Amino acid sequence: MAVIEIEPSKGGLSGTLEVPGDKSISHRSVIFASLAEGTSKITNFLTGEDCLRTVDAFRSLGVEIEQDEDELVIHGNGVDNLNEPLAPINFGNSGTTARLMSGVLAGLPLFTVAYGDDSLSKRPMDRVVVPLREMGAAISGRKKASLLPLSFDGTTLRGKDHNLKVRSAQVKSSLLLAGLFAEGETSVTELGQTRNHTEMLLPQFGVDLTVKGSTITIKGGQRLRASDVHVPGDISSAAFFIVAAAVTPGSELTLKNVGLNHTRDGIIHVMKAMGASIETDIHSYVGKEPVGDVHIKSSTLTGATIEGEMIPNVIDEIPIIALAATQAEGTTVIKDAEELRYKETDRISAVVDNLNRIGANVEAREDGLVIHGGGTLNGGTVDSQGDHRIGMMGAIASLISETSVIIVGKECINISYPSFFSHLDKIRK
Ligand code: S3P
Repeated sequence: MAVIEIEPSKGGLSGTLEVPGDKSISHRSVIFASLAEGTSKITNFLTGEDCLRTVDAFRSLGVEIEQDEDELVIHGNGVDNLNEPLAPINFGNSGTTARLMSGVLAGLPLFTVAYGDDSLSKRPMDRVVVPLREMGAAISGRKKASLLPLSFDGTTLRGKDHNLKVRSAQVKSSLLLAGLFAEGETSVTELGQTRNHTEMLLPQFGVDLTVKGSTITIKGGQRLRASDVHVPGDISSAAFFIVAAAVTPGSELTLKNVGLNHTRDGIIHVMKAMGASIETDIHSYVGKEPVGDVHIKSSTLTGATIEGEMIPNVIDEIPIIALAATQAEGTTVIKDAEELRYKETDRISAVVDNLNRIGANVEAREDGLVIHGGGTLNGGTVDSQGDHRIGMMGAIASLISETSVIIVGKECINISYPSFFSHLDKIRK
C-alpha cells in the first residue's frame, strides 16, 4: 500500500487551480454516447479509475472508444449493435458504473456477468435490482442479487412508475436508463432532489423526457443520437480545496471552471453558512450545466447543522465538511445521512476513526456525525481504507495539523482525482 507524508502548511494556499472533470457527468457522457448512433467527442473527461471502468464496460460490449488524455472519441452504433461480452465485466470500485450499467444491461438482449472489487462487492445492489425486477428484469447474484457479482439475462422490460425509497441519483438514473429500453412509459418519483445530470444530459442526446416536480417520465424505445460533451470541473473535487483554503490561515485561492449545478453546490452554501469567505460567478454553460469560478479566502468558521434536503446535495462532501467543522467554533451536527454507511467505506466510521486519531473530537451517530470544533489537530496517521474521499480528507488535514499527517493507502485517490497531489503542491506557498 502506498504511503505519503504531508507537512503542515507554512503560509497558506494561493493561486489558481482547474480541478478535473466531473465524475458523475463523465460517466453519463460515456454511457449516453456509447448507446447513441454516431460519433461523440467528450472533452475534459475525468480519467479517474471509476470513469475508466465505464469506458471499459462499453468497450467489452463492442463500442470503439478512443482516448487521448482527457479526450474521448466514442463511435456509437446504437443499442441494437452492442455485442455480448465473452468475459465478466469488472466494475472495480465504481458504484456509479455498477448502478447505472445495471439499468442498461437489464434491458439489452445480451447475457452479461459483472463483478467489482472488495468494497463494491459489499455495497447494496438491491436498491436497483428490486425495482428493475419489477420491470421484468432477469437478474441473479449473491445474497438474492443484493450484492455483486450479478448476472443479467437481458430481456424486454415493461415501463413502470417508481416511487424511490432511497435518495439516490444512481438509482434514479439506473431506472431511467432501463426505462429507455422498456415498453411503454417509465416514471421515477424521488424522495427529495438528488443530482440531476441524467435529466439534464439525456435531452442533448435526443431523448425526450419530462420533469414535473420530483417526477421524471421517459418513453421507452427512444434512440439516442451522438452529441459532444465538455465536462465541467468536479465540485466534489473542488470541495477539498474550498475547505483547505477556508481553514488554512493566510490562504486565497481561485478554482476555475467548476460545475455549479444547484443540485451539487451545497458545499458552497454549507461553508458560507459556517462563515467561509467564498465568492462564485457563473460565467458560462456547457449544455445546460452552469460553470463558474470559485474564490475562497481563509476565515474563522462557526458550527452548523446540516440535515434533511441538503444531505443529497453534499453527500460526497461530508468527510471534508467534517474536517472543516473540527476548525469551527462550537458544534456541527450532521443528520439524515445514513447513506454515508453505504459508500466506498462506511464513511461515518471512517471519518470518526481517522479524525479522532489525529486529535479531533468527533462522535458517530446512526445517521451522521457530531463534531466538536475549535480544537487543534495533532497530526499522525490516516488510513484511507481504500476510500478516495477519506484519503483526500487526510491530506487536507495535514495542512492545519501541528505535525505532518501520513496517509496510508494514497493510491485510491486516483479513483476520482489523479492529479490531487500535484495540485496540492502547486498551491502551497
Ligand atoms: C452519484 C451519486 C451519488 C454519489 C456518487 C455519484 C452519481 O450516489 O455519492 O459519488 O453519479 O449519480 P447516490 O446517488 O447513490 O447517493
